[in-house]
Amino acid sequence: DTAQVPVVCVDGPTASGKGTLAAETARRLGFHYLDSGALYRLTALAALRQGFALDLAHEQQIAAMARVLPVRFEGGHVLLSGEDVSDAIRTEEAGMNASRVSVLPAVRTALVALQHSFRRLPGLVADGRDMGTVIFPGAPMKVFLTASAAKRAERRHKQLISKGIPTTIDVLRADLEARDARDSQRAVAPLKPAQDALLLDNSEQSVEDSVAQVLGWWEARQPFAAA
Ligand code: DC
Repeated sequence: DTAQVPVVCVDGPTASGKGTLAAETARRLGFHYLDSGALYRLTALAALRQGFALDLAHEQQIAAMARVLPVRFEGGHVLLSGEDVSDAIRTEEAGMNASRVSVLPAVRTALVALQHSFRRLPGLVADGRDMGTVIFPGAPMKVFLTASAAKRAERRHKQLISKGIPTTIDVLRADLEARDARDSQRAVAPLKPAQDALLLDNSEQSVEDSVAQVLGWWEARQPFAAA
């Protein structure tokens, strides 16, 4: 029974810095980390390689693949059937493809058990869109992280440019707003804060500031934790 294993949920829109915040929070707490977006990215990649269209026409076939997704997370790398696809799933296109498969209800259901399997002692930090609303609704702490679209596009632009990938802020901003719209408007598990989520806007915060905020909230809920 994993009901006693604490989960910290970090949900929010595209490029809000959830991944960085969640991974660093997990490291500082000594908790496991679930990057649920990676599972949708992997599912989309695997589906495209099978020649499936990322829409209702192939919903059942894609869901069947997702149910037995041959994924391993190893030292910061993501392996699909043993192949390192860490870079392949990080592109803007892979994100958009993930958003497309994530609309399919059967695909979401197929990934539930895999996501739950990450809930192990001493605890889990999980990032995504529906961690607090659907996957871990009973989690003791839920954070909804936002930042303005302008800030998010600017940060993503810096990241890509530093990797030598040419792009413009306007294109990135249009892409992330399109992805937010799809993720927020879908019928099943849309992006939205859980009723009991703590809202954090990191537009004007450094990563360290937001990590400190989340750790502070967590400690405030652990009256008996060691100093
Ligand atoms: O967090 P990310 O950018 O890696 O997620 C990629 C896409 O996957 C996102 O646009 C929507 C989908 N997703 C989802 O539907 N539910 C999640 N818990 C995580 C991601």
